[in-house]
Amino acid sequence: MVKGIILSGGFGTRLRPLTCTIPKSLIPVVNKPVIERQILLLKSTGVKEVVLAVSVMSDIVKNYFKDGEKLGIKISYTNEKHPMGTAGAIKLAESNLDNDNFFMLNGDVILNYNFKEMLNFHEKSNGIGTIASKIVEDPSPYGVLIVDSKTNQLYKFLEKNKYSPPNGKIIPMPVNAGVYILEPDIFSYIKPNKKTSIELDIFPKVVVDKKMYHFPITGIWKDIGKPYELLEGSILLMNDLLKNLKEKRKSLIDNSTDINPTTKIFPPCTIGENVVIRGMCNIGPNAIIGDNVYIDESTIIKESLIYNDTYISKNVDIQKAIISDNCLIEDHVQLRGKNENLVILASYVKVLRNIKLIAKEGEPINFCHHVEVNESLI
Ligand code: GDD
Ligand code: MG
Repeated sequence: MVKGIILSGGFGTRLRPLTCTIPKSLIPVVNKPVIERQILLLKSTGVKEVVLAVSVMSDIVKNYFKDGEKLGIKISYTNEKHPMGTAGAIKLAESNLDNDNFFMLNGDVILNYNFKEMLNFHEKSNGIGTIASKIVEDPSPYGVLIVDSKTNQLYKFLEKNKYSPPNGKIIPMPVNAGVYILEPDIFSYIKPNKKTSIELDIFPKVVVDKKMYHFPITGIWKDIGKPYELLEGSILLMNDLLKNLKEKRKSLIDNSTDINPTTKIFPPCTIGENVVIRGMCNIGPNAIIGDNVYIDESTIIKESLIYNDTYISKNVDIQKAIISDNCLIEDHVQLRGKNENLVILASYVKVLRNIKLIAKEGEPINFCHHVEVNESLI
């Protein structure tokens, strides 16, 4: 086992407007693209080569990772002109993956798990595939696994919307975490040149042939399909990274930051490279700030993600928001999400002074890239 393939080609529709300018697979989680974190995890499991199954905005992904030299791993790409579905996408890499078992990952899950045990399990089974699983309280948004608890074999794989809970009552179930170990035999189930879903069209057939297993994984896990999941997943990962540090630290703050001593940092927070924070700000808890961000006096940032190269002026109040790269927030602006309804600014948004964007229950606030916001929404 030396290879992996990461699905990096979905539209990321539910993450719009963030994904209008950033492909979903490059969305930062704690200041590194979500698939860069996956690639590094695979590398730590012994994987030497990763294929990125790209489609939407493929040039941006290729340009970022190139041949993988910077990450110390070989990276190659499939050539998908239009999205071919989750199975169609890996079929394109068949000639590269046909000599040993390989990892396949959905490129939109945050996790921090060492896959070695899962690989041991898979290699001892007679399966064509092993699915990493997680038990969740409400399985309805995920692929549900009906399993034999003794052997871990799958009786059924029911993709999202195909599972009806007994008597309509939602109960915790093991679900597909979007990470698989597959044998090259999987390719014999997938027809070439046809848009095909591995979850809908392929796994159910392999299950009938009694060749599909699951392996419960531990630690954090979050699909970043929706903005509030991206915020929650980023905070989960930040806490996990802090927990696993050798030296005890309450926040992840880069040495190059210039933070005025009158500013209070409420942990946990992440602050990237070359960030300047002027006096009397309150930052955190759960503020994740990227590189080259400037934050002027008396600004408050809590439970929010701020991407790179953004300028935030004085007396700004940001809570439950995601602010993409290169935004400009003028003074006395208030941005407040409510519960799962965040305020989201895509790249290059400018918010004029005194503007208030206050989300209501059930109504998130989104602004597309390059927009100038000159009216409040309360
Ligand atoms: N290259 C390529 N081509 N990638 C694709 C395509 C395609 O046509 N379609 C989807 N992808 C990628 C997405 O970018 C994402 O990384 C991954 O495949 C899964 O697609 P999603 O659209 O995010 O699916 P989901 O989250 O609703 O459901 C899937 O993930 C759940 C776990 O997170 C399913 O696999 C569920 O069974 C699973 O529980
Ligand atoms: Mg997903």
